[in-house]
Amino acid sequence: PSILFVTSEAVPFVKTGGLADVSGSLPPALQAAGADVRLLLPAYRSVLAHAGSLERVAELDLPGLTVPAGILATEIPGSGVPVWLLDCPELYDRAGGPYGDGAGVDWPDNALRFATLARAAVALSDGLVAGWRPQLVHCHDWQSGLVPVLLADLPERPATVFTIHNLAYRGLFSRLDFDRLELPEALWSMEGLEFYGDFSFLKGGLLASDWITTVSPTYAREILTPEFGWGLEGVLGSRMENLLGILNGIDTGMWDPATDPLIAENYDAGDLGGKRVNKHALQQRYGLPADAEVPVVGFIGRLVDQKGVDLILDALPALEGEALQLVVLGSGDRKLEQRLLDAAAESPHRIGVEIGYDESLAHLIEAGADLFLMPSRFEPCGLNQMYSQRYGTVPVVHRAGGLADTVVPVERAALERAEATGFVFTPATAQALAVTLRWALLCYRQPRIWERLVQAGMARDFSWARSAEDYLALYERAIAARG
Ligand code: ADP
Ligand code: GLC
Repeated sequence: PSILFVTSEAVPFVKTGGLADVSGSLPPALQAAGADVRLLLPAYRSVLAHAGSLERVAELDLPGLTVPAGILATEIPGSGVPVWLLDCPELYDRAGGPYGDGAGVDWPDNALRFATLARAAVALSDGLVAGWRPQLVHCHDWQSGLVPVLLADLPERPATVFTIHNLAYRGLFSRLDFDRLELPEALWSMEGLEFYGDFSFLKGGLLASDWITTVSPTYAREILTPEFGWGLEGVLGSRMENLLGILNGIDTGMWDPATDPLIAENYDAGDLGGKRVNKHALQQRYGLPADAEVPVVGFIGRLVDQKGVDLILDALPALEGEALQLVVLGSGDRKLEQRLLDAAAESPHRIGVEIGYDESLAHLIEAGADLFLMPSRFEPCGLNQMYSQRYGTVPVVHRAGGLADTVVPVERAALERAEATGFVFTPATAQALAVTLRWALLCYRQPRIWERLVQAGMARDFSWARSAEDYLALYERAIAARG
């Protein structure tokens, strides 16, 4: 089938989180499985700077813009998956991130920026680039929420799938923005986009798409409850028959300890000697004592409430007597950043903190740490726990969403069958985290148990192959239903 994949970030062009990993690695897997898939992505300044040669293949005159936008053609390096960059300098060519300025403040014109992305998707669906029309448009998160809404007006529209990577970001905007976008008035209703006095791009995507998917089966169930539904559990409940969880895969080429060029020494399950070299390099990088015996616990992530780093901070007093080193890489909430830096200043021999975004360091942490912490309050899928298992770094996770679906908990039976791969705790409290981490540290000191956990994790297959088949089956079904 022909698929238009509409996304706001994709590796290697632009990344703020896991959506970029998925957008950069699922399309090549779909292509390998036989799909004709093409990406649509805004031409942010940073993307243009890295994109190499670009051919301008179409012009579009869209509402709210002072000059026509264009479509620039490039491809995902390696796989050759075609990428269309929506070139619209007044919206995307600026310093800063894809959603906000460097200081973390959202761009004031985000409603127009992503409504324009949707309008470009509609134009492409309508044959803007000669010779190609998608049979299905696959949308991702609120940034492409208006795509299914606007496609509904197309006489012969393609089928639509909307994937929720994170329900917490609902794409909420004001009535004023609604008017500025010149959207049909009928959409401003409880059955439409209106959401408690504002309107939500995400709600539009959930209501108007043929199918909704989430990035793990457990998250697909969790979001039907008020605790994880962000006020959209009712909308989702009304669409339950067309709601499905398909677990993310990972890019097993980019994340492979045997070939990873970003780590200190390569290694594999047959010879973990290189892992010790990485541990040493990691300890040096963080200025921690280079002690091969002490367990190193890693954390990488956006410093936001979702990720539960406050639980790690709150658990530190209870862990005071334990021999361990903690290394953290992340950025986000200023208060959390400061609390982490304070903790490191207080225990410079135990805690290392790096505030920022650093691709190479992320790889070194996966390779050099012994344990990896993900105390996320909710986690639609989560990728680092999969990277960790592949790198022989045992995850300690809160039992939520994709974390529950990808880590096989240490319990007697699973351990005996050599299937257990990590430690899973609940509820999401500092106390439960501390208790489980202490247990993990006990196991760390029992080499036979630890070796089993490491080997079971490294042996798991997290490649995209199976999930890509699931998406293809869903595409076929959705396309067939449109006749
Ligand atoms: P989310 O999308 O919610 O941020 P995921 O676990 O799906 O969570 O994906 C996060 C991705 O971003 C992972 O590839 C992770 O390694 C990466 N990442 C997050 N923060 C940083 C950082 N500070 N430096 C480097 N990589 C990071
Ligand atoms: C979101 C989620 C994360 C998921 C990623 C990719 O950012 O927070 O759990 O892994 O999307 O689907």
